[in-house]
Amino acid sequence: MSRIVHLSDLHFGRTDPALFAPLVEAVNGLKPDLTVISGDFTQRARVWQFEEARAFLNRLSGPVLSVPGNHDTPLDNPFMRFLMPWKRYRRFISRELEPEFRSDDMAVVGVNTVNRFAWQQGRMPKHALSRAKKAFVEAGDAARIVVLHHPLEQLPGARKPVMRGASKAVEGFAEAGADIVLSGHIHNTHIAPFTNYPHVLFVQAGTVLSTRLRGEKNSFNLIDIDRDRVEIAALAVDEAGRFAYTPPHVFRKGGEGWIAAGTGTSVAASIAEASSDSALQGEPVLAPPEGELAPMTGQTGEPGRSDMDETINLTPPSPRAARGG
Ligand SMILES: [Fe+2]
Ligand SMILES: [Fe+2]
Repeated sequence: MSRIVHLSDLHFGRTDPALFAPLVEAVNGLKPDLTVISGDFTQRARVWQFEEARAFLNRLSGPVLSVPGNHDTPLDNPFMRFLMPWKRYRRFISRELEPEFRSDDMAVVGVNTVNRFAWQQGRMPKHALSRAKKAFVEAGDAARIVVLHHPLEQLPGARKPVMRGASKAVEGFAEAGADIVLSGHIHNTHIAPFTNYPHVLFVQAGTVLSTRLRGEKNSFNLIDIDRDRVEIAALAVDEAGRFAYTPPHVFRKGGEGWIAAGTGTSVAASIAEASSDSALQGEPVLAPPEGELAPMTGQTGEPGRSDMDETINLTPPSPRAARGG
C-alpha cells in the first residue's frame, strides 16, 4: 500500500495564515510516500507569493510532485505570461512542469494543463496521453495515477466550463490504464468514478489554504492506495483550526470498474500509529538561494510532531457539490 497526501489550490497571497502550521504538522504526521500538489500555489504569481510557497515546501518531509495551476503564471503581466509563463514557477517550485514519480507501488504522471491561450479553462497537452501510456505500460502492478490542475469532468453547479476535449482525455487515460486522476481548480472536494469511465477514479481536492472558499471548509485528501483498493479521506479544518479526518471513501476495483465499498480501516490505524510515535524535531531547511532551483522531489524539512490524535474528529464529510473557482 502507498500513501498520498493530495493538496491543491494553496493560493499563497490569499491564505489563512493560521492554517499554515497545522497543515505542515498534519501532512508530516501522516508520513506520505508522496505529497501531490495539483496547482495554484499562488494567487497572482508574485515573487513574494512564490517565496511563501517555497517556504511551505521546505517544511514538508518526503517527496513532493506538483504541477502548475492557472494562478501560477502572471495573468496581469502579458509580457511574462506569453514569453516566460513559468519562469517563477521553475525558479521557486520545480524546474520540471510535468514530473513523474515511480515506486514499487505507484506510477504517477504530472500533466500541465495550463495553456497560455486557455489559462482559465485549461488545455490538454498533445503529448499527455502518450506520456501516460508509456509510463503505465512499464508500471507492472503499481497503481497508475495522473495529476493535473483542471478537472476532466464538469461537476454539478460548477460555474466554469470544463476544458475542451476533457472527456476524450479521460477516455485516453482510461485506455492507458490510469486508475486515478487527481485535480483541483474548483475549490471543492469530489471523490467518485468518472461518469462514463468507471475504471478511473476522479478525485478533486478542495483548497487547502485559500480564503476563497466554495461552500466547504479548507481541506486536503489522504489517499491510501493499492492497485485494486483505495481509501480516500478528506481532512477538513475543524472548529479548533486543525485538519480533522472525515469518514473515508473506500473503493474496490473489479471488472466493472471502481465500486464503493463502505468505510476503511487504514486511516484509523494511522491515527493510532501517529499518536504512539515519539515527537520528532529537526532544523527547518532554508529556502534555496536565489537562482538555485528546487528539486522536483525529496524536499526535506522539519518533521511534524506526531500528536495527530488531537485532530481526530469524525464529522460528516464536506458537501460534495462543486462550484467554480
Ligand atoms: Fe484555485
Ligand atoms: Fe485554478
